[in-house]
Amino acid sequence: MSNTTIIKNPTWWRRRTMLERGLTVITAVAFLACVLLACALSTILLRESERKGEKMPSAEASVGEKTESIPTQGPGRKDDLDLCLTPGCVATANSILQNMDRKVDPCDNFYEFACGKFVEESRIPDDKSSLTTFSVINDKLQEQLRDILDQPISDHDIKPFVYAKNLYKSCMNKTLIEEKGAKPVLSILKELGGWPVLEGSDWNEAEWDWKKSVYTFREKGFSVDYFLDFSVGVDLKNSTVRVIDLDQATLAMSREYLVKGLSDKLVAAYFDYMVDIAVLYGADKNVAKTELRKSLDFEISLANMSLPLEERRNATKLYNPMTLPELQQKFPSIPWTEYFTNLLPDKIKLRHDEFVIVNVPTYIHKLEALMSNTPKRVQANYALWRAAGASVSYLSDNFRRRQLEYSTVLSGRTEIEARWKECTDVASGSLSLAVGSQYVRKFFKEDAKKNAEELVLRVRKEMYKILEHVDWMDEKNKGCCSR
Ligand SMILES: *[C@@H]1O[C@H](CO)[C@@H](O)[C@H](O)[C@H]1NC(C)=O
Ligand SMILES: *[C@@H]1O[C@H](CO)[C@@H](O)[C@H](O)[C@H]1NC(C)=O
Ligand SMILES: *[C@@H]1O[C@H](CO)[C@@H](O)[C@H](O)[C@H]1NC(C)=O
Ligand SMILES: *[C@@H]1O[C@H](CO)[C@@H](O)[C@H](O)[C@H]1NC(C)=O
Repeated sequence: MSNTTIIKNPTWWRRRTMLERGLTVITAVAFLACVLLACALSTILLRESERKGEKMPSAEASVGEKTESIPTQGPGRKDDLDLCLTPGCVATANSILQNMDRKVDPCDNFYEFACGKFVEESRIPDDKSSLTTFSVINDKLQEQLRDILDQPISDHDIKPFVYAKNLYKSCMNKTLIEEKGAKPVLSILKELGGWPVLEGSDWNEAEWDWKKSVYTFREKGFSVDYFLDFSVGVDLKNSTVRVIDLDQATLAMSREYLVKGLSDKLVAAYFDYMVDIAVLYGADKNVAKTELRKSLDFEISLANMSLPLEERRNATKLYNPMTLPELQQKFPSIPWTEYFTNLLPDKIKLRHDEFVIVNVPTYIHKLEALMSNTPKRVQANYALWRAAGASVSYLSDNFRRRQLEYSTVLSGRTEIEARWKECTDVASGSLSLAVGSQYVRKFFKEDAKKNAEELVLRVRKEMYKILEHVDWMDEKNKGCCSR
């Protein structure tokens, strides 16, 4: 429920916080460096041993698990090689070797050669649905962040740090969460216009307008992407410019499942989940079944109007720039200036000829038609369900158990993550700059950044060299790329 709205159909990457992304990139670069190092190391060792007519030392020997002799690099030797033998390098080489399957010939299957042992020996924990070298790093990061957030609030802490620690503490206070139950969320749902399935005949249809609801969602910190995805991002054709980007809605379940309809096992599980959560919030089960069935159908229509993944690979097709007046003329039923003004921070002023990138123009056309044909009650049941569903993670155990049941069907995950992990994610995700700043103070090593920058610089230099020699690019574009 962060206030930034750049979240779209959340891929693994998009679900990371800025901090996590930054650290992931640094780690990836460091990992790359290690791979390059390992390659260099093995080349040197290979040359060395060829010269001596020896066989390559096996991986096991290099990590000291067996007792074969290793060519030693004594300081007294004349042909002393420039090898990194610091504890950091040795430990990294060790971890790379442990993930490799040296029995496989890299020319037959490089992936197996480089990662075979990782795939073979890793076990996915019950609270996760996948395991990657990144998630291993992420686990370590989580523990470091916990160290930061768990500290008592001190007088020296500046305000953002106090907020982050308080958020973590409230998230950890399960006693209070159980005591309050669904009440806090119920009162927010009322402020969002009320969830018809809970309000019954008291629900005020005259007050409902889907655009106004989006503005209220924005104000309360909920996603604004349930009908139409709104974000501000870098202009793909001019990276110095930031533009408004409109895309198809972010759905609660991916389009590829939803379009199969209720006969699909996962869609059926989604519907049952929706109904049960509504009941936990206090709805009557039969009413929930009837009303939410219509809201599900509405969501399925949104899915059906959306472009399938395989048609979203062509970036040119998704790049449809329009000025604000053009947009207004093409899609007249939505008051665009008002819409954007309400979603953007106050200090941002829209220019009257502001550029907007529309990813899927047909989607907005169809959305206009769909909204005019859908009863307001159905629209509201859908939107409020999304808000109610997005709040489940912050609620009491009865909600969380039902949520776990649902995610077991979807992903096979059978246990809820440790509470401290969730709370670390909540605090670092919502206040990423505050937590990130403390992370840098406590754990970040300046050298690591320098090394990563140097590595990137070198990769870039090589890239330019390669560009000079490729034959598939004409001279004009070559000049443009190497600038
Ligand atoms: C939980 O919150 C309540 C009310 O603010 C407070 O009295 C209690 O000490 C908190 N418990 C913990 C473990 O922080
Ligand atoms: C990119 O945008 C900037 C700022 O509007 C502009 O000055 C520049 O000419 C643009 N570059 C290209 C290649 O269009
Ligand atoms: C999806 O849309 C097509 C027409 O565009 C329609 O024929 C089909 O019935 C729709 N499917 C669903 C599940 O709504
Ligand atoms: C990508 O989309 C553009 C515009 O729709 C089209 O002209 C182009 O042929 C497409 N490219 C590919 C590779 O499909």
